[in-house]
This record gives sequence, structure tokens and C-alpha cells, in this order.
Amino acid sequence: MRKEAEVFDQIVQERRSVRIYDPEAEFDTDAVKRSLERAVLAPNSSNMQLWEFYRIKSDEAKKQVAWMCMNQKAAKTARELVVVVARRDLWKKRQQALVKEMQRVYPDAKSKQASRAMNYYKNLIPKYYWTDWLDLWGMLKKCIYFFAGINKPMIRHGNRADIRISVHKSAALAAQNFMMSMKAEGYDTCPMEGMDSKRIKQFLKLPRKAEVVMVIGCGPSAEGGIYSSRFRIPNSEVIFEV
Ligand SMILES: Cc1cc2nc3c(=O)[nH]c(=O)nc-3n(C[C@H](O)[C@H](O)[C@H](O)COP(=O)(O)O)c2cc1C
Repeated sequence: MRKEAEVFDQIVQERRSVRIYDPEAEFDTDAVKRSLERAVLAPNSSNMQLWEFYRIKSDEAKKQVAWMCMNQKAAKTARELVVVVARRDLWKKRQQALVKEMQRVYPDAKSKQASRAMNYYKNLIPKYYWTDWLDLWGMLKKCIYFFAGINKPMIRHGNRADIRISVHKSAALAAQNFMMSMKAEGYDTCPMEGMDSKRIKQFLKLPRKAEVVMVIGCGPSAEGGIYSSRFRIPNSEVIFEV
């Protein structure tokens, strides 16, 4: 095994969801900054980066958000809270950034690669992310995929729920990058979906289509911060070879 894999294994083994944080232990808040910078390097669908991360740092803001996390200890005692937000509504802005990036990457606009990339971001992305109020376009896409997929493989996700899942998936991968990085920095985390997403959205003044993916409490663990020994279903029941 490579040395890097050993280090990575140690980080994976040591990461636990910590519910109580030490209020006195030293906490380098720059570790949060660095970890968020690593979070955004996570793989994400079409590189659209439809995510945002809000650092809740002040005592007053932490108190309010912890209350919205049902006053869970993992939130109440956290030295910082990070709110991970899915922003499917930002697709046009991201699309523009990616079109610009494609123009930079492929200066020869006539090349096959350039036209393929441009077609992807200019034509296919809007077809995927655009939605109407009743999600009729989503239903139509599902129907098209159904018939097109009778005799050949075809993507199946197309309605609003599918888009939301896709954006949440990518944001969750970034959240995991963040938590692994925090462990590598010597700190602990606890992801939480036990929270009032509506109130948090209002608190952060987020638009209607933004969605809170999770809140992550972080800091140095207090004694007893891990509630129980790790339990996992046996690998033989969840890992298969085909
Ligand atoms: C999406 C998600 C939501 C979670 N929500 C909560 C939560 O609201 N409160 C909590 O104490 N733990 C929460 N957890 C932590 C899990 O309970 C924890 O990851 C699981 O029990 C496995 O333990 P481990 O992280 O220590 O390996 C959540 C984890 C995930 C991934």
C-alpha cells in the first residue's frame, strides 16, 4: 500500500461524527477556510458547481442556527457551523462561466472538441436544468427517455426531482471533502440533516429554489464527543463483485 493510502486510511478510520466539542481547546479557524477550499475541488455534475457554503462564526449566529438544528449538541457546542446549500437556481450563471472557460480551453472554436463542449454547455445544459412550474418539461423529457431507451441505454434523469437529487449529490461530495479535510487538519465534524431547513434558508436570506443540504458542526472534540463505537453492516452485505 502506498504511504498516501496509509495516511488516507488513517483519516477515514479516525473520522467520526462528533456530537460534543471542546469550548476551550485551540481551534485554528483557517483550517475551516482551507477545508472549504478543498471542498470545492470535489467532483460535481457537469462541473456546474451548484453549491454554496456559509460559515456561521459569530456566537449570536451560531446560537440561532444551533436552535434551528433542534438544539442538537453537535450544533450547540460546535466552534463553527457550515451550512451546505444546493443552488440549482444558479445554473445560468454557472453555464455562462463554463462557456467562457470552454472558449479559453479551446481557442480554436472550429475544432471538434470545441464544438462538442460548446454544444454541451450551450444547448444540452439548459435543456437539463430549465424547469417550468408544473414540471411538464421534466415529464416530457422522462417520456422521451423512456421511448428512446427501449432498445439502447439512455439517461433517465430529467424531471425536477432528478435535478434536485443531482445537485444534492454533488454538494454532498463537497461536504465529504470538507469533513475529511477537517479530520486531516486535526479537527472533527458532524453532518446534520436534523434541522429546520426552512428557517435556515430564511436566516441566510436564500432564494426559494436554494436548498439546505446539511449543516456541519466542527471543532476540536471534547471528551465523550463520540457517542458509541463505530457500527457498520458487514462488508459482505453491502459490497458486491459482479
Ligand atoms: C446526511 C447526513 C445527515 C446526518 N444527520 C445527523 C443529525 O442530524 N444529527 C446527528 O447527530 N448526526 C447526523 N448524522 C451523522 C450520522 O448519524 C453518522 O454519520 C452515522 O451514525 C455514522 O457514524 P460515523 O459518522 O461516526 O461513522 C448525519 C449524517 C449524514 C451523512
